[in-house]
Amino acid sequence: MSTSALRKRSLPGAAVAFGSALRSVEQPSSRPSPFLKWAGGKGRLIPQLALLLPRDVEQRRHVEPFFGGGALYFSRRPAEALLMDINGGLVRTYATVRDDVHGVVRALGKLARAHTEPHYYEARERYNRGRLQDVSHAAHFIYLNKTCFNGLHRVNKKGQFNVPFGKYKNPGILNPETLLAASHLLRGAELVHGPFEGLLGRARAGDFVYLDPPYAPVSATANFTSYTQEGFGPRDQEHLRDVFAELDRRGCKLMLSNSNAPLIHDLYKGYQFDQVAALRAINCNARNRGHVTEVVVRNYV
Ligand SMILES: C[S@@+](CC[C@H](N)C(=O)[O-])C[C@H]1O[C@@H](n2cnc3c(N)ncnc32)[C@H](O)[C@@H]1O
Repeated sequence: MSTSALRKRSLPGAAVAFGSALRSVEQPSSRPSPFLKWAGGKGRLIPQLALLLPRDVEQRRHVEPFFGGGALYFSRRPAEALLMDINGGLVRTYATVRDDVHGVVRALGKLARAHTEPHYYEARERYNRGRLQDVSHAAHFIYLNKTCFNGLHRVNKKGQFNVPFGKYKNPGILNPETLLAASHLLRGAELVHGPFEGLLGRARAGDFVYLDPPYAPVSATANFTSYTQEGFGPRDQEHLRDVFAELDRRGCKLMLSNSNAPLIHDLYKGYQFDQVAALRAINCNARNRGHVTEVVVRNYV
């Protein structure tokens, strides 16, 4: 499957049972929720972000160019969405969960049953060789995410996943109902692998766009931004502001999360600023765990 434009495909509607947990692709029994741990994930901020959504958000297409774990998307559950990320393995995994969730559940079950520390490193090596088929790739991606240290997705200069084993007693590797519910919701989504600039060719007037980029550092060592080999520096933040301004002109409703750094206040001067209180859960520097103030920038009130 190409990861450059992974479009909606229909799932077979037949009921397929895995033990007693799964009933039918058409009737997931649980509500969709994120199935990956993701650095910078917005799970805990949802109640605060929900208050800042446009009043008529239900009528709009939901667009997220920095999709990651998709906390806002899974809490909103929009019927139509455009979801993008620069992480090709991540986007390919969502597309496979959407298109062949039963295959993913079976393959992930096998990995979960074999889980030990040596098995983790073998799976990481297989994943990094880059020759896995879609279903096996998705199962490895989810398995490594659930069992690696802190749920980080960090890559080395060659783009290889290099996070060590996380010593969890019960990592909760396989939750078939969560995957099934996510698969069902994702049928309404177009998934695109690529950098945020790709938004310019895809966003339309009337879209609701939630932008959650790697944060601008509030101090020299404070932030985790190594989602990719390239990182995300001040020039990327400036470029993102230019894209924000263009989408504003185009008639999109825009909401952006970022740190409370002076750079962000400078770049988005004139737009609506709100503060939210966040508990930082994944941070390489233990001293920076705890409550921090973050900002939400909007082009509407
Ligand atoms: C803060 S996380 C998003 C978290 C997400 N909102 C959630 O709730 O899980 C930022 C995401 O941006 C992606 N990213 C980093 N640089 C990017 C770029 N230049 N273009 C598009 N996505 C990028 C990363 O892969 C990561 O998934």
